[in-house]
Amino acid sequence: MDWSPDKTQVKSWNEWDTLRHVIVGRADDCHIPPPEPALDAKVPEDSDMRGQWGRRPQETIDRANELLDNFASMLKKRGLRVDRPTPFDFSKPATTPDWHTDSNFGCMPPRDVLLTVGHEILEATMSYRCRWFEYLCYRNLMQQYYDEDPNMRHEAAPKPRLTDADYHPDYLSEKIGEAKRLEWAAEKHFVTTEEEPLFDAADVLRFGRDLVVQHGFTTNLKGIDWLRRHFPDHRVHAVNFPGDPYPIHIDATFTPIRPGLILNNPQRRLPQEQRAMFEANGWEIVDAAQPAHNQPPPLCYSSVWLSMNVLVLDPKTVCVEASEVYQADQLDKLGVEVVPVELRDAYAFGGGLHCCTADVYRDGECEDYFPKAS
Ligand code: ALA
Repeated sequence: MDWSPDKTQVKSWNEWDTLRHVIVGRADDCHIPPPEPALDAKVPEDSDMRGQWGRRPQETIDRANELLDNFASMLKKRGLRVDRPTPFDFSKPATTPDWHTDSNFGCMPPRDVLLTVGHEILEATMSYRCRWFEYLCYRNLMQQYYDEDPNMRHEAAPKPRLTDADYHPDYLSEKIGEAKRLEWAAEKHFVTTEEEPLFDAADVLRFGRDLVVQHGFTTNLKGIDWLRRHFPDHRVHAVNFPGDPYPIHIDATFTPIRPGLILNNPQRRLPQEQRAMFEANGWEIVDAAQPAHNQPPPLCYSSVWLSMNVLVLDPKTVCVEASEVYQADQLDKLGVEVVPVELRDAYAFGGGLHCCTADVYRDGECEDYFPKAS
């Protein structure tokens, strides 16, 4: 059935077909969480966030919300349906029988939590304790979609226990150093162990029949195996990007733009042996343009490579952060219409234009983009 704005339908098989319905996150009440094993491994060693936690300053929350609201309005003006999460009180502690942490995180990046594959929206296990309850911010929407679309499948991956056994203790040291981190990343020694399946939704890219999943800090091999068993009609591929000392979330590293074209972070190139499936099927993997900034904004988890964290509206139209002029120029030269969107002051809340959204509906069906075996 074709898309109609009056009828809720959940469906999205890839990262590029025409987007009709999307969730845009909110910065409300966002907290810098207290120290915990997985988070400490991710916060860069020279970051201004080390050693501090608590509610983010109100003026930064207001500014981030202004940008997110503007982004949502722009998408609505283009005819998209836009939904927003419902924050809970993130200052509350989070406690399970296994652990306690003094605050939650926020609900700015829905992409980290929700994975839409076809008619299904799957809540990821997550791998940080401060994000264990984040799915609650989306439950109103999930319930609404489930009630209104008889074909929607609402699934949740097994909640992980996240005991200390989930984290390698050698990553808890304050000073590891970039050289050691790069060595560990190349050896596929990440902060998370193989104690139980773990994945964040933002480690997964959807290419129709194929799912490409980054193995790193937030997704372990058991998490990838869980996805393989959960989606038996898909081919699930584990990928690594050895140049990344803090490998979490694939969407500032590997960015499909349209069938046949992917941008790859030139500091985190896909290893040759993992390129075979793309090359055998005529896909081009090009180095992304350099970021326009030398530093991320203050109190930010992410790297400057949020420059390539773009949102594809359709295979010819892509939203790019307004200050990322080199990325915009590269996409323009690749024949894409660029829609500039101001978002940099919201990066600190959990990412860029891809992170702060989650697909509900895109046109198109499940296609096989890699029919030739590699
Ligand atoms: N891991 C991503 C980056 O910061 C979000 O580059």
